[in-house]
Amino acid sequence: MAHQTMLLFSFFLVTLLSIILFMVSHGNLPGSIRYRWKAMLGINRFRGGHSFYELERLQQNEGNMTPLSKRTAAISTKDLVTMNEIKLSPAEYPIPIIHKSSFKKLPQWSFEDIYNLDAPPRPSTCAQSLRNSKDEDFQKAFLPNIRMFLHKDNINMREWNRLSHFNNPFGFMEMKYEDVMPVLKLIPKPKEPLLLPKPGGDGCVRCAVVGTGGILNGSKMGAEIDSHDYVFRMNGAVIEGYEEDVGNRTSVYVHTSYSITASLYLFKKYGYKYAPHDQGIKYVMIPEGMRDYLWLNALFKGEKASKKDPRTYYSGQFSENHFYVLHQDFLRYVRNRFLKSSNLNQGLWPIVRPTNGAFAIFTALHACDTVSAYGFMTEDYRKYSSYYAEKHHKTNVVFYANHDYILEKNLWKSLHDKKIIKLFQRTGSQDEIEISKRA
Ligand SMILES: *[C@@H]1O[C@H](CO)[C@@H](O)[C@H](O)[C@H]1NC(C)=O
Ligand SMILES: *[C@@H]1O[C@H](CO)[C@@H](O)[C@H](O)[C@H]1NC(C)=O
Repeated sequence: MAHQTMLLFSFFLVTLLSIILFMVSHGNLPGSIRYRWKAMLGINRFRGGHSFYELERLQQNEGNMTPLSKRTAAISTKDLVTMNEIKLSPAEYPIPIIHKSSFKKLPQWSFEDIYNLDAPPRPSTCAQSLRNSKDEDFQKAFLPNIRMFLHKDNINMREWNRLSHFNNPFGFMEMKYEDVMPVLKLIPKPKEPLLLPKPGGDGCVRCAVVGTGGILNGSKMGAEIDSHDYVFRMNGAVIEGYEEDVGNRTSVYVHTSYSITASLYLFKKYGYKYAPHDQGIKYVMIPEGMRDYLWLNALFKGEKASKKDPRTYYSGQFSENHFYVLHQDFLRYVRNRFLKSSNLNQGLWPIVRPTNGAFAIFTALHACDTVSAYGFMTEDYRKYSSYYAEKHHKTNVVFYANHDYILEKNLWKSLHDKKIIKLFQRTGSQDEIEISKRA
């Protein structure tokens, strides 16, 4: 008897499963359930090197996305057939989470080098603008109108799905839609461009970007730095007591939630008490990872994030109108076109990214007409402390695995040699000649 019941039950189960499978494969289920089933069964994943999102996007040939590189592979008819078979509507549902651990090196999507562009923020009337550079390599790589900032009106499901293919900070790989999208929808659309030409001037926006490098110690560059229209700083931007070398103004402070909090204790012994907070300062955030989205959530709501009230870190200068969040496309473009480290070809690839300082220089390159960089790594970096704040005790630059400092150093030098930026160097000075004699 028991045996018969078991048999009957098994039969019932098999029938039920068959019905479900039939419905799944023939699309008789409501979209979301069908979608999740297919996601669970892995049907949608990476067919022939394309994810299904990619195929749909390429098929629809979206108007606002401009392929800008030959590296962007053309789509084959075979791919389109695959897409038609799938018959899903990825614009309505988030794609299944893509895991970093699925890739032994940086994955390459066919839409890797395609970026959102925005209308130019202002007409360019500045004759000396770096935008007018005749350098061919730079002109090929540089996208003057790349979308720089993320806000609630330029993020949607389609964008979420596209950006979910890229690891942080270049996208939302491994992040949950429910966790992140509500935060993105809090980011206000910037009311004004990051920087405007100073009234009564010649229309040029002249910027200084001040890194934290030891080369600034004893440099006496303070007055020159402050003479620019705008001064960018980042990380442990110690000013008090260092004005003669680094200046005292800050117009733009570039940060992550980690850098703005950690710098306070890392640089405390050099008198660093708060992040720059000049009247009207603009804050630019690199949304590095989940903790930055939690930070933004609390910041915009005026709440606490893990016991901290983010607003206190801006010393009263936080204002929605002066807060800018860098767009994932912008960050990825900087990496792909200017700082593609060979370390991206190995297992540690998910943590490899340009430094905050590099993102600050690139923000300036796209928001200013001329850019002078101070306190960044130069050929002779071994002569200086790691940070300019380390005046009294010479330290050595530590090379962390997540950044390619040598690649960045060489890029600054090459942009300087091409007259795209002006890099502060101390080469040719007497002590350098002394050192090279000894070496
Ligand atoms: C910077 O220094 C100049 C000259 O000493 C001074 O006039 C100015 O008020 C200072 N600015 C800030 C933001 O501290
Ligand atoms: C910083 O600069 C001062 C003045 O030039 C110099 O005496 C000192 O040795 C420098 N410190 C380091 C760590 O290089």
